Amino acid sequence: MGKECIVIHGNGTLCGEVKIAGAKNSALKLMAASILGCGESIIKNVPDISDIKLMSEVLSRLGATVRREDHELAIDTTDVDSFSTPYELVSKMRASISVLGPLIGRFGQARVAMPGGCQIGARKIDMHLVSLQALGVQFDVDHGTLIATTPHGLHGAQVMLEFPSVGATENMLMAAVVAEGSTLIENAAREPEIVDLCDMLCQMGARIEGAGESNIEVEGVALSDLGPCVHTTVGDRIEAGTFLAGGALTGGPVTVQRIDPSYLRMSVLKMRAMGCDVTTGEDYLTVMRTGPLKPTDIQTLPHPGFPTDLQAQFMLLATLADGISVITENVFENRFMFASELMRMGADITLEDHHAIIRGVEGLQGAPVSSTDLRAGAALVLAGIVAEGYTTVYDIKHIDRGYEDYAGKLRSLGADVVRQAVD
Ligand code: UD1
Repeated sequence: MGKECIVIHGNGTLCGEVKIAGAKNSALKLMAASILGCGESIIKNVPDISDIKLMSEVLSRLGATVRREDHELAIDTTDVDSFSTPYELVSKMRASISVLGPLIGRFGQARVAMPGGCQIGARKIDMHLVSLQALGVQFDVDHGTLIATTPHGLHGAQVMLEFPSVGATENMLMAAVVAEGSTLIENAAREPEIVDLCDMLCQMGARIEGAGESNIEVEGVALSDLGPCVHTTVGDRIEAGTFLAGGALTGGPVTVQRIDPSYLRMSVLKMRAMGCDVTTGEDYLTVMRTGPLKPTDIQTLPHPGFPTDLQAQFMLLATLADGISVITENVFENRFMFASELMRMGADITLEDHHAIIRGVEGLQGAPVSSTDLRAGAALVLAGIVAEGYTTVYDIKHIDRGYEDYAGKLRSLGADVVRQAVD
């Protein structure tokens, strides 16, 4: 398939109900965790997106068999006999690094290409390495490949993470579950995707307490005590937050279904403060707005703080608010590239270090823009829906990494959004 773009006819509205897919950031790690349980694991509610295809390829290269039927993956790890993940895969998707912990857990060793820089900041892996070293892992680097060995086996340890890194918490968990003795992870990440991973590991036979809290305790078990399992991925809070932002932008009402509202508490708080009505049920949220958007002050923080993955979508809301907003990005240093694309559509944004000062404008104009990353791409399509005239969003491969049928779902809510081949 050749390159495509998304063309949006503006002055549109979004109204209706949309079913939210399984969380990308959870499913990727659940797939990696399946390495630890020899046999066939079934993972349900897996989104049909390109990052999942890449992770399937990573697992296939290791010797696993991955079959997809609709939104269910059957991953048979019986014949996994390799512990190497090459640069050509890691460079396409940084989350490939999450096989490091499970490979060390299963083989006592791993060879994973070092991830390079990424457009949204330096994204180091020092905390992954420090925490695994505490468990007894030794690292060498050979021509860009990280070589992990455990000459004295894996043993439990007490580790305080410098920052509640999602990836470092996950990698450490997936090695600690088979380390000898107990492990305490202090200042652990508390994201719903961490809880989901711990749930799956416990179903496989691991012993973990405190998932979703800052201190996670792991009592190591023998690798032979872990087996395959059947697990359903949690809903994608970022996809849900993106559609809610769309509803807040156009007035809605928009209802996102199949998502636990407690995952989005901080975002809902901010939406309400911006003048939106948000109602919640057991597994849905509805947003609508009749008055003007009010300005906001947002700081991105680890969960349960405001998620960096919804920063661009809320910057778009702030752009059309009645007053001056400030957004501070604390998680990824370079995540304001979206602002310059939005300015091409008429936004008034000043960037100062990791702060963005956004002066609300009356409206946006359609323009050709580029998706600089996954979330920025999704937000630009929303911007096109409220802008005047036509907007073309290029580089939509980023959107396809994380949103299943984004254009189709927006069309089902009434927007005029189509994918087109780029000449
Ligand atoms: C995950 C999510 C990403 C989300 C992010 C924060 C996946 C595939 N991606 O990314 O969508 O935006 O959580 O919620 O799940 N850091 C270090 N050293 C380390 C590890 C991280 O300095 O060893 C820094 C990073 O550069 C970044 C910050 O810590 O500035 C947060 O990173 P982390 O929480 O690890 O995010 P990811 O797991 O990469």
